[in-house]
Amino acid sequence: MRRAARTVVAVLATTATLSFVAQPVQAHPQTKTLRSAAPRDLRIGTAVAGGGHHVEHSYPDPFTYDRPYRKVLAKEFNSVSPENQMKWEFIHPERNKYNFGPADAIVKFARQHGQAVRGHTLLWHSQNPAWLNEGTFTKAELRSILKSHIFTVVGRYRGQIQQWDVANEIFNENGEYRQENIWIRELGPGIVADAFRWAHQADPRAQLFLNDYGVEWPGVKVDAYETLAKELLAQRVPLHGFASQAHLSMRYGAPDQLAGVLQRFDDLGLKTAITELDVRMDLPEGGVPTAEQLTTQASYYKTALDACLAVDDCNSFTIWGFTDKYSWVPVFFPAEGAATVMFEDFTKKPAYYTLRDTLARARR
Ligand code: XIL
Repeated sequence: MRRAARTVVAVLATTATLSFVAQPVQAHPQTKTLRSAAPRDLRIGTAVAGGGHHVEHSYPDPFTYDRPYRKVLAKEFNSVSPENQMKWEFIHPERNKYNFGPADAIVKFARQHGQAVRGHTLLWHSQNPAWLNEGTFTKAELRSILKSHIFTVVGRYRGQIQQWDVANEIFNENGEYRQENIWIRELGPGIVADAFRWAHQADPRAQLFLNDYGVEWPGVKVDAYETLAKELLAQRVPLHGFASQAHLSMRYGAPDQLAGVLQRFDDLGLKTAITELDVRMDLPEGGVPTAEQLTTQASYYKTALDACLAVDDCNSFTIWGFTDKYSWVPVFFPAEGAATVMFEDFTKKPAYYTLRDTLARARR
């Protein structure tokens, strides 16, 4: 069980009388935002929109230019994950050129607003730059490219990133290493351990995670991660956490076994996290979700949050964007949408209120 918030007693001493007045601090302060409602040992995060699919849209960079968006981002969350701005194709667009500006801006914003940052991601099969995908490199060169990328990027933000998704989506649905992953295909699965070692050397305080989707229910993919986690720990590789992305669809049912999955990794001594939660649905004609759909969506969000709350060392709960205005879902899942907790105009859906109430109850 998660520790109950301690009763805080403020002691005021007046020098004049030297008498002490014990004053209980209000146990349930008015909780108006997700971050203020949350238990103190749980970070509430969101992806920060920019790069990736956003580039195809006509709107300017959301994080830079959408002031109402930035306001909600600062107010509601105490953790942020760059949605694309730290991915290879974005941060390392040419072999000898890094593009740090957008990631720097997010890290600075986070510092100014008391937010943790989740770094995403270092070793992945997707969103790699053309120079890497299409180049011809020897194995030794590839290894040194990965190593110097990790040292450069992780080193730049040393001390400022709470958790890094070091390895992202390395297994396929059959629990086999993904051969689309250039690093694994060319260098073998042992490269995963090296990526963790390098990231740890570059920032010894960052918590280093395995991250994937399709691990919300038990199955061969979860088994593969459990086996890998045990191996890495046995070899004293600096692996600190396992995360479920939790991109959910109302087509497939609520994540009612997620707590059990997270617990298996907690039992290994790892931290766990929910890193990319959203709940998409089939949109009716006209594109507006029905009241019933919104209620079901809220219950899925709650089930995912409850899973994290039920596990001791699940300390980070992140949704993949907070407004439908910028969600990746309609771009990647035809006919599905409305996956976030706020409509395009930032009005709140039932899912938002359910999360906030559930957090507030857990904090008590
Ligand atoms: C998505 C972004 O949201 C989009 O903007 C981008 O075009 C594609 O990637 N798993 C991950 C995330 O680990 O990085 C993906 O983000 C969603 C699936």
